[in-house]
Amino acid sequence: MQTVTAVAAAEAALVEAFKALGLPIEHALASPPHRNSKADFQCNGALALAGKLGKKPLDLAQAITAELSNNTTFELVEVTGPGFINCTLSQATLVDCLEAALASSDLGIATADNARTIVLDFGGPNVAKPLHVGHLRSLVLGESLRRILIASGHTVISDIPLGDWGLQMGQLISELQLRMPDLVYFDRSYSGPYPSEPPIILADLEGMYPVAAAACKADPERLAMARIATAELQAGRPGYRALWSHFRALSMTSICADIDQLGAHFDLLAGESDTQPIIAPLVDALLANEVATQSQGAIVIDVQQPEDSDRPIPPLILVKSDGAAMYGTTDLATIKQRTATYAPDEIIYVVDQRQAEHFTQVFRAAAKAGFTTRLTHCGFGTVNGADGKPLKTRAGGTAKLGELIADAKSKADLVIPIHLDDREQLAGKIAIGALKFADLSSKRLTGYTFDLDRAISFEGKTGPYFQYAAVRMASILEKAGDARAAFGADLRGVERDLALQCLSFAAAVQQAVDSYEPSEIATYAFELAQTFSRFYTNCPVLTEPDKAIRASRLALCALTSRTLEKSLWLLGIEIPERM
Ligand code: ARG
Repeated sequence: MQTVTAVAAAEAALVEAFKALGLPIEHALASPPHRNSKADFQCNGALALAGKLGKKPLDLAQAITAELSNNTTFELVEVTGPGFINCTLSQATLVDCLEAALASSDLGIATADNARTIVLDFGGPNVAKPLHVGHLRSLVLGESLRRILIASGHTVISDIPLGDWGLQMGQLISELQLRMPDLVYFDRSYSGPYPSEPPIILADLEGMYPVAAAACKADPERLAMARIATAELQAGRPGYRALWSHFRALSMTSICADIDQLGAHFDLLAGESDTQPIIAPLVDALLANEVATQSQGAIVIDVQQPEDSDRPIPPLILVKSDGAAMYGTTDLATIKQRTATYAPDEIIYVVDQRQAEHFTQVFRAAAKAGFTTRLTHCGFGTVNGADGKPLKTRAGGTAKLGELIADAKSKADLVIPIHLDDREQLAGKIAIGALKFADLSSKRLTGYTFDLDRAISFEGKTGPYFQYAAVRMASILEKAGDARAAFGADLRGVERDLALQCLSFAAAVQQAVDSYEPSEIATYAFELAQTFSRFYTNCPVLTEPDKAIRASRLALCALTSRTLEKSLWLLGIEIPERM
């Protein structure tokens, strides 16, 4: 099979040379070159091995270099410094790799030998509250990770477990009872049927929740009412169950509409409520095998470990003294259900980093309970306002996701050239692309300052900049029609830079997988688009008189275009047909 990536070609040659010299091949690695080196790769194997073999690094490096000179993979191999080996690929190797990349369907993305089944838990918005800006991150990062993992050969089951069972449900029920005490659902003898004529609509629900939450915060009596309603709901009181299912259905339509706009795909939309049947037996089993213990009327799992001596992790509370199961209990029960249903190798949680301690508790408790699945918390920082604090609306409330998207759409509409039709659809793609790219461009653990004007701009590291670059590349190729595109001409200067950048796509994807970090792809795409700009300014394509050069440049345009498109796909960003 032909190698599609430059690093694979380089390493194949290094391995051959190491083998010929009887050296262990795990050091036959091609790393990125030093900053001001002109080489394509650098091999540090001689330095790593010299000590172990009792040889001088320089001698070893020279022996490897001499061996490599028999190989046509490189056009130049040099020893520098104390024993680094600088390697520059030959034109023939480059052309081989480029041709293979252009012919391959996946641009050389390594499909994992150890393909895993992964449950990707992204989000878990709470029913009854509209999605807010924090959900943007879990949905956008989650969708990108989903695509990156699938493209790398893993099987992914994405899940958005709704928070549909907590105190907020009791708060809503008691709020409604105060407003409409005569509703049949509050009658203790109510036994069905379920509401065909809903008592409230979504706008009522959304209006009720903040009022109910504030009242419970201010008034202990209201809180007690909400707690009782929650407990009765959980115990199965039919009227409350009817209201609950109605609230859930209402809220689900609004949640799904936002998720849809963001183009996030989930395979499962279960709820915390779905774990209820297994919670009691799970807690009993954990008590029976002494993983869980009684403590001051509650049931807990002690998760402290010696290494956290200076900052002990509190026990995971499974059941509170009033009998209520907790967030962590549901998470543990969900691990049990997911393990039983999908036998995943890993469960990844894309959830706010402020929940890090919760996940440490849950993961440690899961290990104690005997679950061996790898559990990973993929945390993220907050979306901040200009003041550096989590973004709020002008009125001081949490910024709703739907409103943010609507704002982005109207702003995007302003930057679209007036003559284009399909403006609405285009504005949608630009707006979502802008929001997504702003979210994906920095490392996930760093929060970022939300600046809609900047995000929608066509300049700088923004979604619209990439969308425009992709559209422009596609239009160059369209203009070229069926003109011959084939690598072959000598690639020097910026053409060579662009070629090598295309060939390092797979390495960027691998890095993204290893660190669960879509920003690796964003950074890669930015560098690729910039190099392309430099190439396009300096190297005529369609107007180039030399046929071989034109064909080679066209092939380079085609490969860059496909690579950028795939990068944007991995980020979950749609490319408009025209811009
Ligand atoms: N419902 C939770 C919240 O709003 C997030 C759930 C995240 N997923 C999970 N399995 N814990 O904070």
